[in-house]
Amino acid sequence: MLQLSVSGLVPAFVLASPWHLLLLGAASWLLARILAWTYSFCENCSRLRCFPQPPKRNWFLGHLGTIQSNEEGMQLVTEMGKTFRDVHLCWLGPVIPVLRLVDPAFVAPLLHAPALVAPKDMTFLGFLKPWLGDGLFLSSGDKWSRHRRLLTPAFHFDILKPYVKIFNKSVNIMHDKWKRLCLEGSARLEMFENISLMTLDSLQKCLFGFDSNCQESPSEYIAAILELSSLIVKRSQKLLLFVDFFYYLTADGRRFRKACDLVHNFTDAVIRERRRTLSSQGVDEFMKTKAKSKTLDFIDVLLMAKDEHGKELSDEDIRAEADTFMFGGHDTTASALSWILYNLARHPEYQERCRQEVQELLRDRESEEIEWDDLAQLPFLTMCIKESLRLHPPAPDLLRRCTQDIVLPDGKVIPKGSICIISVFGIHHNPSVWSDPEVYDPFRFDPENPQKRSPLAFIPFSAGPRNCIGQTFAMNEMKVALALTLLRFRVLPDHKEPRRKPEVILRAEGGLWLRVEPLSTGNKPSPIDRQQGPQKANRTSCDLGGMRRSCCF
Ligand code: HEM
Repeated sequence: MLQLSVSGLVPAFVLASPWHLLLLGAASWLLARILAWTYSFCENCSRLRCFPQPPKRNWFLGHLGTIQSNEEGMQLVTEMGKTFRDVHLCWLGPVIPVLRLVDPAFVAPLLHAPALVAPKDMTFLGFLKPWLGDGLFLSSGDKWSRHRRLLTPAFHFDILKPYVKIFNKSVNIMHDKWKRLCLEGSARLEMFENISLMTLDSLQKCLFGFDSNCQESPSEYIAAILELSSLIVKRSQKLLLFVDFFYYLTADGRRFRKACDLVHNFTDAVIRERRRTLSSQGVDEFMKTKAKSKTLDFIDVLLMAKDEHGKELSDEDIRAEADTFMFGGHDTTASALSWILYNLARHPEYQERCRQEVQELLRDRESEEIEWDDLAQLPFLTMCIKESLRLHPPAPDLLRRCTQDIVLPDGKVIPKGSICIISVFGIHHNPSVWSDPEVYDPFRFDPENPQKRSPLAFIPFSAGPRNCIGQTFAMNEMKVALALTLLRFRVLPDHKEPRRKPEVILRAEGGLWLRVEPLSTGNKPSPIDRQQGPQKANRTSCDLGGMRRSCCF
């Protein structure tokens, strides 16, 4: 009786067991979190209401699935660009808002923000971490800025100059292959596959001073890099596999681990071997030997780099940076070159004009070799490269997550925490920025006739503090490859139009197929040339003499 009366007077929780209390505590914490999240979500939604949106599929899916990564998706994005000319909002499901920016003035606050204010969004990029570690591409904060300072000298023109010979050699190997395939007159080739082997070959030579002969016979290391790149794309298409635990249970996850190990072992072995040589020879002797060969590999620059306190990069750091260069430099350049050849195949008049420019340049030479000084003497070819990078940017989207509110030129504010897509493709196809944006017109980049455009209207290599560190390397390689290709081959479109496929890199569904036809004349003027005389290349506003100085990228 007494007990009953007590239990009636004392609050129930006093009598509850510790487990009940723990449960109650956890439930309250969860409820508080849910309330806090709901509050901040609602506040965020109201702040985002000022941004226009295309029609949603429904309240749950939002815009998920409306823009596929295929040709139709690219066309839809182009159409949307006519309506939304600066920024618009999309919902990935009911709770993930993403802002897509397509105007140079609107991307400026993001691209020029300090790296800590608009860091990369790691949702997809995180998949690269086991491969690339804390290399420049993925790192952030102090580590990134220290490494960026240390690595910048690696792209000084003194280092890049001797690489031009390497580019010539790698391109020659690719062309010898093409010539063998063309024995019956012409060959139908898949460009991405051919060209990425060539870019990987060049990179391996410039980075490690290592010739794997990968264009002629299979290389385990190169195969592992190609496999890693394709596994990353495959993973990004399956939501469940975003979770590491599930991914590494799958066969693909295990293949990813194995390929990562193989790539790391290769890089580690090169670093170990170079360190041994450096310490046995000493820096001075090592540099003397290198001076004889006239080439300093990227890995040597990384090994000798020291910050303002005399601190070197660790072996782990060097491995991450070397792997990052291999990743960042092969697919992008291969995509760029493939689309350049495609655009020139569709525009034989521009192709012929580039060819004449190269023939003119090499007219009295013994050998068909593009040299460092020649790179600034190919103004029209450079214009064609740039126009192709505009129409088919190899990296079509850049992802950022804002760590602070960011104010846009029209006064709207991107709330802290938002994911933003800087749409390089969107800017390059924006009709407010480019007239007739779908037309391939190299004269947009005629330095003789400069157009008033924002410096951010053309950003294939991004811009601001996190722009591409390898852009001069890439431009040089593209000029050499394109000049030699047009000198030796006529490039023709395939019977089927390629369907664009934006993955991390802009590709083509089923590959980008073109036909190539060897030209018998090499660097001797073609019959058309002889009829029209050497002055033809100088005929229009693209005057070679005037452009020579200014057209280097
Ligand atoms: C046509 C060829 C190339 C294109 C279009 C290209 C494009 C880009 C773009 C758009 C970015 C910025 C990515 C972002 O902000 O998310 C970037 C960064 C980077 N690229 Fe390239 N790239 C090319 C070639 C290369 C080459 C040849 C190398 C190295 C040899 C390279 C190394 C890097 C690195 C290390 C970064 C990260 C820089 C940093 O965050 O500090 N890229 N590239």
